Amino acid sequence: MQSLNTLEEVAAAIVAPGKGILAADESTGTIEKRLSSINVESTEENRRAYRDLLFTTEGVQEHVSGVILFDETLRQKSADGTPFPDLLTSKSIIPGIKVDKGAKDLAGAPGEKVTEGLDGLRERLKEYRSLGARFAKWRAVLSISDALPSHYCIDANAHALARYAALCVEQDLVPIVEPEVLMDGTHTIDECADVTTRTLTKVFEALALHRVSIPQILLKPNMVISGADCPQQADAEEVASRTVSCFNKTLPSDLPGVVFLSGGQSEVEATRNLNAMNLKSDLSWPLSFSYGRALQASVLKAWQGKADNVAAAQQAFLTRARLNGAAALGKYDPSEDPQA
Ligand code: 13P
Repeated sequence: MQSLNTLEEVAAAIVAPGKGILAADESTGTIEKRLSSINVESTEENRRAYRDLLFTTEGVQEHVSGVILFDETLRQKSADGTPFPDLLTSKSIIPGIKVDKGAKDLAGAPGEKVTEGLDGLRERLKEYRSLGARFAKWRAVLSISDALPSHYCIDANAHALARYAALCVEQDLVPIVEPEVLMDGTHTIDECADVTTRTLTKVFEALALHRVSIPQILLKPNMVISGADCPQQADAEEVASRTVSCFNKTLPSDLPGVVFLSGGQSEVEATRNLNAMNLKSDLSWPLSFSYGRALQASVLKAWQGKADNVAAAQQAFLTRARLNGAAALGKYDPSEDPQA
């Protein structure tokens, strides 16, 4: 791997042209849901075998610059005994680690969540850095409904994200700052634009207050998009215009880049929307992907937990990674997309 000495170099390598992140950091509960959708039992060995399939996919490093791991996965090994962080690094893929402990009920705010995990975080980051991780992730979630999210919830999550980011910088890990405005609900794209703008404004205020150096971080936001159950669904062009216009109002110019979450969009939507953004001429930041479901849905379907299907599943992963890499350059061609 090219030498990555500084946080700025790690951040730049993650958003290198045509590359993005595979989010393979599903917690034990979430991966159990994914595996049960294909009738595979969530044993430690099945979780390892599935991640091994992803990480040993030949050629994926052309499109994937980094992988976010879960604590268990960071400590697991490939079939030949190579620790996963070493396997990824040997392919010039940068290992990252999810460090939050999940979204829990926010006291005094029915229906709202705050992400926990700050206690002992400095010590955990030290260990993750020694195990080979070069970047970290912390996800905050905000729901939209009539009265939500509250200012209180936005503030509490922005504060936690900023404390996490400051600790990561101190411990030589690039913090990926992920405030996710959920797409669940009937809200319109206007409401999503409003809540996303308010959230990103507060997050960057909190980062400044906590003395976080913006050139050393990456942002992982939602796209500005219609609620999943909104009758009026915005098309890719509108998602792209609204998202870029929100960023032009809220993101600092020295942010090294943006890596979107997919948040429940289908594989094709997530690719198409990313591509539409990268066709815009007024972009001030690299816009790429850090997808979980939108890089893995067709992989899981092809795999079905069977050794005989590994090659087909790896082909499905390589295809999605290649198409999203192209979308990060505004060069996605739907006629090459088997899912489109
Ligand atoms: P999705 O792309 O499935 O939303 O997952 C990305 C992620 O890392 C959420 O924290």
